[in-house]
Amino acid sequence: MRKFVTDAPVLENAPIAEGIYRMVLHAEKIAITARAGQFLMVMKPGDAAAFLRRPFGIADADAVAGTVTIIYRLVGKGTKAFARMKAGEMLSVEGPLGQGFTLREGRQLLVGGGLGIAPLIFLAKSLPEKPVFLIGGKNEREVFWKELLEPLAEKIYITTDDGSVGTKGFTTTLLPEVLQSEQLAGVVTCGPMIMMKGVAEIVKEAGLPCEVSLEKRMACGIGVCLGCTFETTSGVRKKVCADGPVFDAREVFA
Ligand code: FES
Repeated sequence: MRKFVTDAPVLENAPIAEGIYRMVLHAEKIAITARAGQFLMVMKPGDAAAFLRRPFGIADADAVAGTVTIIYRLVGKGTKAFARMKAGEMLSVEGPLGQGFTLREGRQLLVGGGLGIAPLIFLAKSLPEKPVFLIGGKNEREVFWKELLEPLAEKIYITTDDGSVGTKGFTTTLLPEVLQSEQLAGVVTCGPMIMMKGVAEIVKEAGLPCEVSLEKRMACGIGVCLGCTFETTSGVRKKVCADGPVFDAREVFA
């Protein structure tokens, strides 16, 4: 798979929710080759606090416009520095990296929580058929994603921990009902590990294929430092950055 290291000018960078930013970069070659589920390693040149590149899932790529989009949460000095960047400023971007989602035929259910919903946006655009979404958050504020997903989804199910919108509970509370009432060919999930584990167990019971996208601290992002390895259910050590981040759920959860 081809990857590039390029200086990418920021085109847009603005908050889309409390503490969550969306940044659009111009990076033509990456935009043309990127696949849903892959990620970028991004660095702000000259930023001492961020001399290592940081991984960001690709939330969108537009081959015609030559743009890639990331959605990030303000969590430390590095992302705060990103949030201050204005259009025209430059980031150093490496990518596209890793293995993306399988673009399966048939109706897919995309189950996302928190920032794990971001890569599912690109996946929804890439699938041959409009997917069904099941998204969850603590409260109404955390499921702001609905607006972004609406043009891409055939249907959106929502759960919130406090019941302020959608079904009260977790995505896994509603998932059995969704699997019953929708005709589905497969499931993809991305979000907190505990959520993906619960989703994988329920989907396994239902006999459908399921892919998960893992998140791990990544130093190199290209399979060199071994900092992101984990043991699969069959006892093989795999690297999240190079062998994933997308895996068959059976490789990750017993
Ligand atoms: Fe270095 Fe995966 S981040 S091997």
